[in-house]
Parts: sequence; C-alpha cells; structure tokens
Amino acid sequence: MARVEFKDVEKIYPGNVTAATDINLVIEDEELLVLVGPSGCGKSTVLRMVAGLEEATSGRIFFDGEDVTDRPPKERNIAMVFQNYALYPHMNVFDNMAFGLKLRRHPKAEIEERVGEAARILGIAHLLERKPKALSGGQRQRVALGRAIVRKPSVFLFDEPLSNLDAKMRVQMRTEIRKLNLEIRTTMMYVTHDQVEAMTLGDRLAVMNEGRILQVGTPMELYDRPLDRFVGAFIGSPAMNFVEGAVQGSPPRFESSMTSFPVPPRFGKRSLPAGRAITLGVRPEDLYLKPPEGDGGRFQAVEAVIDVAETLGNEIIFHIDCAGQRIVAREDPGAQGKHGDKVRLFVDLERVHFFDGSSGRALGRE
Ligand SMILES: Nc1ncnc2c1ncn2[C@@H]1O[C@H](COP(=O)(O)OP(=O)(O)OP(=O)(O)O)[C@@H](O)[C@H]1O
Ligand SMILES: [Mg+2]
Repeated sequence: MARVEFKDVEKIYPGNVTAATDINLVIEDEELLVLVGPSGCGKSTVLRMVAGLEEATSGRIFFDGEDVTDRPPKERNIAMVFQNYALYPHMNVFDNMAFGLKLRRHPKAEIEERVGEAARILGIAHLLERKPKALSGGQRQRVALGRAIVRKPSVFLFDEPLSNLDAKMRVQMRTEIRKLNLEIRTTMMYVTHDQVEAMTLGDRLAVMNEGRILQVGTPMELYDRPLDRFVGAFIGSPAMNFVEGAVQGSPPRFESSMTSFPVPPRFGKRSLPAGRAITLGVRPEDLYLKPPEGDGGRFQAVEAVIDVAETLGNEIIFHIDCAGQRIVAREDPGAQGKHGDKVRLFVDLERVHFFDGSSGRALGRE
C-alpha cells in the first residue's frame, strides 16, 4: 500500500516530444485512480514513470512521501498488468502465477498459500492445472492479474488491460477489477482511453489531453462540473452538444443561430461582457421533446426537425436538426417522433454549461 505523488513531473522524449508536462497528482492509499484520455495523450508515459520504466525528465515522484524518482523498477514494489499479458505457454496456471515468487525464492508453503488466495479472489481456483491455451481470453487475463496479486505490490499499475477482450468480457472484467480493489485494498492506477470504463471503475479520474492533466475528480464531479470543454465532451455518452454563440445585452443573453435566452445567474454576470464568444454545452439527457411537468420557466423551447431516431429499447437517441445545428437528444423509450417531424426541443437551463469561446474554460468556475 502506498500513496503516490507526482510533483511537477515532465517527460520529454528524444526528438523533443513532450509526452507529459506539469503533472501534479496524488493517488491516495488504496485508491483506484483512472487516467483517461485519447490515444497519444501521455497516459502510458505517466504510468511507466510510476513503474520506473521511463525516467522523468524533471520533477519528482514519491511513494508514501519517499522520493522514488531515481529508483529502478525492481526496488519500487509495483506490479504492472498490460494489454498483452504474455503467459508462459508451457506452464500451467499455478506455475504461471507462482513463477515470480519462485524466482525470489519464497518458501513453497507461502507460494501455495498466496497463489491459492489469489486464485480464490479471481475465481480461477479450478483452473490451476490448465495450460494457457486451454483458457478463454478473460480467464487468461485473470491469470495475469493473479500473477500480479501474489507479489503483494504496494501499487498496481494497469495499462489498458482489457482492450484485447470482447465487449461482454470487458464489462465483466471491469467489475472484477473493481471488486479486486475493494478486496485487496491496494493503491491502483488504471489507464484507459474508454470513458465508460473510466467512469465505472475509478474512485477518481484524471482526464488527460496533449500531455496535461486537465481535471481530476470523482466521476460525478467530472460529469456535473467539467472545467473545460474538452472534459465536457470527453465524459458522457452520447457526447455533450456544443452550440457556438456570444453574449449580448445587459442583463446578458446567450445568442446563437439556434437559440437565445438569458444567461442563468449562476454563471456570474461580471465575467460576461457583451460580445464575448461563448459556447453552450448541453448533454443529450438534458434535452426533452416533452418537458417534465411542473417545472415552468426552467426549459427553453427550440424549434427543431427530427432527422434520425435510434430506438435502443431502454432509450431513444434522436438526432435533431435545430436551425442547421446537429443536436443529439436522449429520450425515454416512450418518446414519439420520426424522420421529418417538426418538434419543439426543450433545453433544461438548470443543467446547461457555458465555455469560453477561445480558451474552452468553463464559465462560472473561474
Ligand atoms: N519512446 C518514445 N520516444 C518518442 N516518443 C514517444 C515514445 N513513447 C511515446 N512517445 C510519444 O509520446 C506521446 C505519448 O505517448 P503515450 O504512449 O504515453 O500515449 P498514450 O496516452 O498511452 O496513448 P495510447 O492510448 O495510444 O496508448 C505520443 O505522442 C507518443 O508518440
Ligand atoms: Mg498507452
């Protein structure tokens, strides 16, 4: 167990590639922190610096307050699980899991106990005699996890460990990893580019883009209060809709080709000079074809035409044309509407976001 801390960490690869910069982050003891962001944003680089597989160009990394920046990987007591979990094909599951402990000359009884315990936690106790080729992808991934667990690391590092599995198995293994964190109470850092995986797994998420951490918070904090447009767009599915516009008049109104309404007071009137370019952000679930009753004044109606309705059973996703703007709305399964229907779309003004038109920073949170 360990608390991991990054102080002003930066990684510049040869060729002047800045893969990570200004990394200041704490992963609390026993916490499961997910590092999430698009491909190439620097997630693996940050993880590999914790492991000691990559040297930080500047800044320091601490485990429980102790500076480990210059320590080699084997002196950090970490375990890493990758996407490509190479198991030894000629060894059975037990030996695959026991291999690292045998190398370190742990006593036989202790090895048996640790492997047995890990196999029980992962539900693979009945597979210990099997060779990897006789296992499913999910079972193999469990063995790879088991091999990491038996070492009793202070920090677990996962780099997209589920990306080789099919969709159903990913969902199942995601729950397993969450349970694992609750059961063995070890600090975990988990890298993924999949925001759903990140939201469902993490105690907290750190959203990265272009080498920087943009925001750190619980899944609900990121969903409810994205600090910038990138985070707003990245978290949530279907993604947040954005409408470009500007502030006009006093008291300030949001004006765009699609809609116009007074800027709700929570965004702070002073930060809204007339003419400032701002972007409205509204999530598909905050748009209604029929406004919930008894909330007069909270909804702004917009004239719209339905383009496509996708019926998913538990919900319907509508792709809607609002004055030339493509908007996605998520509705209850009972919602009515088909291609070409003229409708009114109701925007929940208590749930809208605004972002600065140039910096992308969220308004009202500066
Ligand atoms: N050894 C290296 N030498 C030079 N550049 C590198 C090296 N490793 C990674 N990079 C670059 O650093 C940036 C971050 O890479 P990194 O592997 O950390 O991204 P990532 O977020 O893990 O992406 P992915 O989701 O695709 O795995 C990328 O631009 C990548 O091309
Ligand atoms: Mg990576």
